Amino acid sequence: MTRRAQICLLVDLSNQSLAARRVRRLEVCLNLLGILSVSVGTVEVLTESTRSIAAIVTGTVSVLFLVEYLVRLWIAPEMYQAMTTSESKARLLWAISPQGVIDLLAVVPALAVASGGARLGAESASVFVLLWVFKLAARSTGVALIARVFHNERSALGAAAALFTIVLFSSATVAHWLEAEAQPQFFGSIPASLWWAVVTLTTTGYGDVVPLSLGGRVLGGLVMLSGISVMALLAGILANGFAEEIRRREFMRIWDLVARVPFFSEVGAIALADIVGQLRSLSIPAGVTVIRKGEQGESMYFLVSGAVQVHLGQTRATLKDGEFFGEMALLDRKPRTADVVTVAPCTVLVLEVADFYRLAGQQPALILAIESEAKRRRQAQPIS
Ligand code: CMP
Repeated sequence: MTRRAQICLLVDLSNQSLAARRVRRLEVCLNLLGILSVSVGTVEVLTESTRSIAAIVTGTVSVLFLVEYLVRLWIAPEMYQAMTTSESKARLLWAISPQGVIDLLAVVPALAVASGGARLGAESASVFVLLWVFKLAARSTGVALIARVFHNERSALGAAAALFTIVLFSSATVAHWLEAEAQPQFFGSIPASLWWAVVTLTTTGYGDVVPLSLGGRVLGGLVMLSGISVMALLAGILANGFAEEIRRREFMRIWDLVARVPFFSEVGAIALADIVGQLRSLSIPAGVTVIRKGEQGESMYFLVSGAVQVHLGQTRATLKDGEFFGEMALLDRKPRTADVVTVAPCTVLVLEVADFYRLAGQQPALILAIESEAKRRRQAQPIS
């Protein structure tokens, strides 16, 4: 793999490797530092030296953003490989993409530093807080998740928005009928009444416009109650959308991990989907005792990566990627037979005891395979 392809992989948002996550974290920290320094620079009461430090930090961050921009421009041909073979066209495509435009605008403070000396005027720099916030948002996986949830739930959100609009306009119209005579300045027309309706429906209640008639007050109460219901509906749609999206992502992540365990390779896709739903992943550093001899068995583990040692009296058995452990206590319903310690950073898939027995009913062949390996282990290393 070329150096350019390696860098492209490193900055890929979907790359979950440790190095890629570190690069993303560094970028977020740099971005936050920049936003903080620009914000600090606009505080009038600070001493001149503090503001100078803030300006220098702002300048440094923006220069680093310039370097980042040039690197991204350089690696653009790797990103647009599927679309074009021309390097300059790929760079142009990236430069005019929303990401490229935001990144370019975010480096303008660096250009100002270059043209105007080391210090950047606080007020001119403050304009870029917004751009740096956009830059942060564009790379944030959290923002991407929110965007995805809004996209997935667009029809339900649309229905809630329609309901909101119906209640808004009908309440503004009725309020106009009831209050126009007493308060023509606030309720003289339907558009004028909309302000009261929106403030009441969202339960904000500034109190600047208040219905005076009995009918107007009853209407106000009803609008407030409707507002609470619409907000609850929106919160429910979004909460459900988030839970669904996170479940979907987790499923795909576990699916990828399961594909790396040869033990599951014989299982068909439908059965695998069933198994994936019952597994959760866990990252464990080296030197951790995952299983202690004599304890009750609550789960078994499939090693996706890394290695563990099983302490069998004087000897030790090493288990590597693709192997499993912790099955004996579940099969025999007896305490753990040995200590199991990680000897390298491990990623494991955990199958809880209740799911293990459920799976035994659904996938007998799988449990038979686990049972036969357990039998071999018992014979190979009889444990006291
Ligand atoms: P369990 O008894 O639940 O907890 C300790 C685990 O060590 C055991 O399940 C097996 O998964 C594993 N184990 C025990 N004996 C051996 C062996 N001889 N070789 C490999 N693994 C073993």
